[in-house]
Amino acid sequence: MIRELAPAKVNLFLHVGDKRPDGYHELESLVVFASAGDELTFEEADALSLHVEGPFAAGLAEEPDNLVLRAARQFAAFAQIEPKVRITLTKNLPIASGVGGGSSDVGATLRGLSRLWPGKLTLPQLWNIGHDLGSDVPVSVLPGCWWMTGRGERFASVPEIGTLDALLVNAGTAVPTASVYAKLKERSGTGRMTKPQRFATIGQLSEYLHRARNDLEAPARTLCPAIDEELAALNRTNPLLARMSGSGATCFALYPDAASAGMAAETTSREHPGWWIAPTKLNFGRKWEFQ
Ligand code: C5P
Repeated sequence: MIRELAPAKVNLFLHVGDKRPDGYHELESLVVFASAGDELTFEEADALSLHVEGPFAAGLAEEPDNLVLRAARQFAAFAQIEPKVRITLTKNLPIASGVGGGSSDVGATLRGLSRLWPGKLTLPQLWNIGHDLGSDVPVSVLPGCWWMTGRGERFASVPEIGTLDALLVNAGTAVPTASVYAKLKERSGTGRMTKPQRFATIGQLSEYLHRARNDLEAPARTLCPAIDEELAALNRTNPLLARMSGSGATCFALYPDAASAGMAAETTSREHPGWWIAPTKLNFGRKWEFQ
């Protein structure tokens, strides 16, 4: 049986530029992946099937044609084989929450199927399949620290910024990405930040990030007031930085070390027992492989 982690994606900053003729907006974002994520397994079977379990499984029950199934069908079509695989998805990440769970599930599916059926497709072919399934799927095919541009589908490597101790929180409200973009007014534009260099200290990284923001935070807050509460709760734990990820509503905070992130998790869980709260490591040093 093949296992793949589908790590949560965090936008350390996200600047939005012009709206393009195709309706998407130009973006500039520094993206990292977390040690927290969904888990997928892949086993040879008589037919294609998907079984969803885990704490957030119920959120996908209404969705018969899950992105994971579409990715598996497209992989098989490109590879000219029958998609005879049983996929199990353990949904640990909240749905529609700004940490790219669905996109990361697709990325993990493409990696998993490449291991189950080696040598069938090349990495650029996987990126092409990903491109059709969502703006930030290609970046999730090989999770890493990426400088993301275009509508989110273009990405370039950045110098190693090191592992970051973080906390992810979500109060439980799903925010649809398209509605957040529809409410967007002020945009930082692209080209305002330079690609980061190596940071000698976490303080320098934090200073760099404080010069940027997430442009989607303001419109998301008007749709989902819980984001205000999440940021207030995170700011009470004295983080280096607290910010929303993606189009929300998940917010993250960065800390100087794992002990501070752990303490912040304890305090926030006590204050908000119903929230999803995940102390995690960002850019956690795992080398992702493609076969
Ligand atoms: O590609 P994805 O499904 O993630 O995008 C969802 C919606 O978010 C799009 O239909 C579009 O309205 C908006 N979007 C955008 N600009 C982007 C990415 C998404 O306007 N770069």
